[in-house]
Amino acid sequence: MKEQLKKIEELAKAELAECTEIKALDDLRIKYLGKKGELTAILKQMGKLSAEERPVVGQLANKVRADIEEALSEKLTSLKASEQAARIAAESIDITLPGKAQTIGKLHPLSRVENEIRDIFMGMGFNIADGPEVDDDYHVFEALNLPPDHPARDTQDTFYINDKILLRTQTSSVQVHVMETQKPPIRIISPGRVYRSDAVDATHSPLFHQIEGLVVDKGIKMSDLKGTLEMLMKKLYGNECRLRFRPHHFPFTEPSCEVDIMCFNCGGKGCSMCKDEGFIELLGAGMVHPKVLEGCGIDSSVYSGFAFGLGLERMVMGRYSINDLRLLYENDVRFLEQF
Ligand code: PHE
Repeated sequence: MKEQLKKIEELAKAELAECTEIKALDDLRIKYLGKKGELTAILKQMGKLSAEERPVVGQLANKVRADIEEALSEKLTSLKASEQAARIAAESIDITLPGKAQTIGKLHPLSRVENEIRDIFMGMGFNIADGPEVDDDYHVFEALNLPPDHPARDTQDTFYINDKILLRTQTSSVQVHVMETQKPPIRIISPGRVYRSDAVDATHSPLFHQIEGLVVDKGIKMSDLKGTLEMLMKKLYGNECRLRFRPHHFPFTEPSCEVDIMCFNCGGKGCSMCKDEGFIELLGAGMVHPKVLEGCGIDSSVYSGFAFGLGLERMVMGRYSINDLRLLYENDVRFLEQF
C-alpha cells in the first residue's frame, strides 16, 4: 500500500509537469484527489490493514494528499502567471509607430463663397428661392422676353431634352417661378447650377453656378440695385473695393447694366488677370422689364423691381486669385486643400 501511495504521488507529479492548461488542472485534481479518485480508492482499503500499520499508512496518505495539493496549487500559480504574460505580450501597443492621420474634409471654395453670399443677403432680409435645373422653354426664355427667334438665344445655346424642355442656361428662370407664385414685396436670391453648351477652357465650362437676385416692390429704383450690390461687394471684398456700372442689354431688364469690380490683382492699374482693363466683369443686372412683370401677373404701373445674376465662379476666382476655372471642378485634393 505504501508503494501504491508513492506511485500515485509520482504519477500525479509527472502528469502535472506535463500540464499546460489551467482547465486540465481540475481534471487532475478529480482524478487523484476526488471522491472517486485514486487516493480515495486506496484509503477505502485501509480497513484491511493491521492496527499498527493503519496510522503509518494513514499518515503517509495524508502527506501524499498534501503534497499533491501543494503541487497543484503551485502549478496553478505558474500557469496563471504565464497566461498573463502571454496576454500582455499579445495586447501590447508599439507606441513608437507613427499614428494614422485622420483626413478631415472641408467645404469646396464654391460652397464657401456661396454660403458667405447667402449670409450677406439673409442679413439684408432676402429669402432663398429654389428652381428646377431642368425647365421649360417658357420659364428660361419666353417669359423673360426672349421669344423663339430672339438672337440672344444663340449666346445661351443649351442642352435640349426635347423641343420644350431644356437645362436652364440662367437662374433668371427662377425670377419667373417666384413671381408666378409670390405676391410683392419679393426679395429673394436663388443660387444654383446653369448649363450652356460651351467647350471647356480656362474661363468656360458647360456647367457653372449663378446667383440670381430679385426684388419687386412699390418704388424700387436703380439706386436700390446699386446700393444692394455695393453692400454685397464691400462685405465680400472689403470697403476699398469699387464697382463700375456699364450700360448693357438684356431682354428681361430695362435699363440693363453689367457690373465690374476693380481688379483684385492690380487695384485698377491693369494686369494680365483683368486683361489690362483694371476691372473684372462680375454680373448682369437691371430693372425688371414691365413685360416680364405683367407676364407674371404683377401690375407694372404699381410695382417695379430690380434683378441681377452673378457668376459664382468669377467671384471665387477673384477672391482666391485662381486663374483657371477647371481647377474648381477637377477635385484635385492638392488644390482643394489650400482653402
Ligand atoms: N441671366 C443673365 C445672364 O446669365 C444675367 C442677368 C440676370 C441679367 C438678371 C439681368 C438680370 O447673363
